[in-house]
Amino acid sequence: YKLTSHNEINQKIIKNWERYRKEYPISLKNSFRQIVASARFISPKKAKIPIKFLIGKNDKMIADRAATDSMRKNLNLLDIDGKIVIGEGELDKAPMLYIGEKLGSGKGPSIDIAVDPLEGTNFAAKNLPGALSVIAVSLKGNLFNAPETYMNKLAVGNDVPKDATDLDFPIEKNIKNIADAKNKNLENITACLLDRPRHKEIIEKLKKLKVNLKLISDGDVSGALLVTQKKYNIDIFLGIGGGPEGVLAASALDAFNCNFQGRFLFKTEEDISRAKKMGIDDLNKKYNLNEIIRGDSIFCATGITTGDLVNGVKLKNGKYYTETLVTHKNSFIDIVKKEVAIT
Ligand code: FBP
Repeated sequence: YKLTSHNEINQKIIKNWERYRKEYPISLKNSFRQIVASARFISPKKAKIPIKFLIGKNDKMIADRAATDSMRKNLNLLDIDGKIVIGEGELDKAPMLYIGEKLGSGKGPSIDIAVDPLEGTNFAAKNLPGALSVIAVSLKGNLFNAPETYMNKLAVGNDVPKDATDLDFPIEKNIKNIADAKNKNLENITACLLDRPRHKEIIEKLKKLKVNLKLISDGDVSGALLVTQKKYNIDIFLGIGGGPEGVLAASALDAFNCNFQGRFLFKTEEDISRAKKMGIDDLNKKYNLNEIIRGDSIFCATGITTGDLVNGVKLKNGKYYTETLVTHKNSFIDIVKKEVAIT
């Protein structure tokens, strides 16, 4: 595959990409090892500040590539018969983690895998809060194969009855029902959505209702997950974002017993034909959570830069530390902290 960058440091990584990948093999313990390795390769004496070389360099592509490469290598070390159902694109467009790509030794259980190795590429490139590396897995056939198109989404917490909100209800009705369910005034309700011109009308309606807004610049996997716990003070997540991100968020929302609905939006003929190839006949269908996640699933989101959900990768005394939000519908929800020595 071809890498390009105008950034001097990243050009060095690109030039020596194959070499550093061989010299610093991936460990199962941490999927960001290669980011660290790349920095060591460029300047071993400055190994204590490796993240600096890929976070905050204003180069989305190189950071995304490192995360993708790393995640793929780690998954290939596992005894699984894995298949990417949501990935970085289709084979002709993406060199790896493409939809349909087989991963693992092929010896273990057959599982479907949804990935977003770098969710919030802008956040990582610009060194802003909220960049995550995200994966969801389920047994074969249980994760919706989402096309790479937009999705209109709605997520609410488990303290709101499942029938109180609906993508097809007017926004006013959804907000009032949430307020009733939580016994709150409308001015104490907070809605989270991507700050995009396409949401102008919804934002106006929310403002009229006197609802508080949390307008996020990117990262709607994290945005949707803010309804999961009271401490985030988000009562509803709504609006249009990426379809694959919707499926990933749905896996975690399912574990928290929250509600989620999504409807894909197809703009071009190409979008439509891709969706049809994936088996979507009803282009206007509204999907409920249990149609997107059809059984048990595991979701992991590792912080790259510190955000609302988890802390980012930190370096201290020759070790680096990561935090991963792990949810498994049938067993546990936890933030798993890892300490990994730089070798
Ligand atoms: P990337 O990490 O791929 O850049 O996606 C970031 C993101 O904000 C997603 O969280 C969101 O679903 C999508 O982009 C929204 O797309 P757009 O920027 O086109 O509105």
